Amino acid sequence: MQIIDGKGLSQTIKNEIALKVKEIKNKGQKTPHLAAVLVGNDGASETYVANKVKSCHEVGFKSSLIRLGADITEQELLAEINILNNDDEIDGFIVQLPLPKHINEQRIVQTINPEKDVDGFHPVNVGKMVKGLPTFLPATPFGIMTMLERYKIETQGKHCVVIGRSDIVGTPMSILMSRKNNPGNCTVTLCHSATKDLKKETLRADIIIAALGYPEFLTADMVKNDVVIIDVGISRVKDETKKSGYTLKGDVKFDEVSKKASFITPVPGGVGPMTVVSLLQNTLLAHANKKII
Ligand code: GUN
Repeated sequence: MQIIDGKGLSQTIKNEIALKVKEIKNKGQKTPHLAAVLVGNDGASETYVANKVKSCHEVGFKSSLIRLGADITEQELLAEINILNNDDEIDGFIVQLPLPKHINEQRIVQTINPEKDVDGFHPVNVGKMVKGLPTFLPATPFGIMTMLERYKIETQGKHCVVIGRSDIVGTPMSILMSRKNNPGNCTVTLCHSATKDLKKETLRADIIIAALGYPEFLTADMVKNDVVIIDVGISRVKDETKKSGYTLKGDVKFDEVSKKASFITPVPGGVGPMTVVSLLQNTLLAHANKKII
């Protein structure tokens, strides 16, 4: 069994990005600049956005954090997005999800200029991804594809089971894994809450991408030997022994599933850091695209 070290790999890629940023600066070009919009003060979102900002600084990007109150109106948030759309200094930006219930997430995402949509959530960019055109891939799927590529994990002809059909992870993952590409070229089964016999599906899988957000859901009896496990889950589970009061759990019961797996991502230190580094890669792409235009 080999652990896929997302933390280490993300550091390697950050070093590569930092070198590119140095070159950009040496040529006298504008420094890449990522902005993040954070609405309200959800604990997990705070942590994710703080990580994104910190990573920007590590590679030499500029970053801006726009904090808005949980009671902001949809109109006010749309106005903020239009400011970012029209600000030439900003290469790309994200609006951290989830948003408060009174705000229509789809409307917000559709207002972001697709050329600055480094999350790859805008329908124009989703459409380009589906058609295999160059675009911003959503950060988590992009990070997973990078892990499979850099660890040289064979995917062609394999049976990949994706658990969870979210817009952010499950659905794009199922599309990317089925494309005629490397990584990719899999036969894909997308499982979700209406799947009749999930265990029957996971037992047939060569590769499992667990993205349902249910801590320690996938157990050893649900997988076959030598399976490749990508664990996207990152749930906060109450733990009185921790200073923070919680511990992070993936969607996979790591201790038992790892004994049967050929490759497995840990939580934390697997998919999470790769998501952040993919966002940086997309920002670099947005910066380069703008230069050409
Ligand atoms: N919430 C959970 N994952 C993500 C992500 O990749 N981007 C944004 N904007 N919000 C998220």
